[in-house]
Amino acid sequence: METNTVRREYHAGNSAGLPPVESLRKFPPEFTHALRSALSQTLDETDFDFLGPKTRGKVRDIYARGDQLVLITTDRLSAFDRILGQVPYKGQVLNQLAAFWFEQTADIVANHLLAVPDPNVTVARRCRPLPVEVVVRGYISGVTKTALWYRYSRGERTIYGMDFPDGLEKNDPLPQPVITPTTKGGPDGHDERITGADVVSRGLIPSERWDEVQDVALSVFARGQEIARRAGLILVDTKYEFGIDDQEQLVLIDEVHTPDSSRFWIADSYVERKAAGREPENFDKEFVRLYYAAQGYRGDSEPFPLPDDLAVQAAQRYIRTYELLTGRVFEPGALPASPRIEHNLRAWLAANG
Ligand SMILES: Nc1ncnc2c1ncn2[C@@H]1O[C@H](COP(=O)(O)OP(=O)(O)O)[C@@H](O)[C@H]1O
Ligand SMILES: [Mg+2]
Repeated sequence: METNTVRREYHAGNSAGLPPVESLRKFPPEFTHALRSALSQTLDETDFDFLGPKTRGKVRDIYARGDQLVLITTDRLSAFDRILGQVPYKGQVLNQLAAFWFEQTADIVANHLLAVPDPNVTVARRCRPLPVEVVVRGYISGVTKTALWYRYSRGERTIYGMDFPDGLEKNDPLPQPVITPTTKGGPDGHDERITGADVVSRGLIPSERWDEVQDVALSVFARGQEIARRAGLILVDTKYEFGIDDQEQLVLIDEVHTPDSSRFWIADSYVERKAAGREPENFDKEFVRLYYAAQGYRGDSEPFPLPDDLAVQAAQRYIRTYELLTGRVFEPGALPASPRIEHNLRAWLAANG
């Protein structure tokens, strides 16, 4: 099996061991070869002077055009607040998956999506972003010192201003999903975790609006869990961003339920693994973080470049996640992406600009 070959290659150079991909669909060898040859054609950055002023996010290039934003999702993979490298088709997967979720949640909340003129591009309504990232967690997990599990396991029962019952085990579902907001860090500032009460008392979001945000976030999360469950995945936690439009309406912006903004576990293996005291199988980019951590990387220095095999495996996971969640077969866009995007955008602008 091609995927096994890839896995073995990595184990050869990595005695720390990589989490095995037990439930990964066996992609046909041709497809894995295609991913491998796409490594040299990933989309690192765009520079379209016909589009207006550009800002560079960690993953997306954002062009401002009056009351619209052209969001081009690149193949950059970020972790530890750094760019580790590029993953073939990651930009396309993220962009198309977010578009899928906007469609699937449009009955719950308005969203920013206006058009998808290219597999990597979303034209969005530009909104005033709320200064808080809305993290929703359905499970008690995590290893870092700010994770719910770390604090719970040390005996805390009031965490981020919320009470938790006794008797929870690591990776258990919470009695109900909880919201743990963070402030939006600046370009190089890190996010700060705050309580819901802080959001209002610090004047970040007015009380009524914050109530609305929480209601909407929990409803969108419930929809996400339902659709993920049908796909054989567990939506563990996620992060939403909201904006306000010129009608003062709440709008879901940015990206929704992508493997960059969310954690997914494989539902099938979750129960037996938990019973055996094992960690769930991750189906998001967590395995890249684990690989870097296993190599001793702590996020405090220049990261080593993303190894090719890891990039191919990441691509397989991103693509598989897209296919499971949407029920659609992933159709890789033509490469190289940059001239294709330019062509599609110019055509779209001629018709709609
Ligand atoms: N509709 C929108 N209106 C205004 N800002 C938006 C909208 N959608 C997304 N954004 C912002 O665009 C950026 C997307 O690029 P990204 O690479 O995710 O950046 P970041 O490094 O800040 O996460 C984010 O800063 C996000 O807040
Ligand atoms: Mg982002």
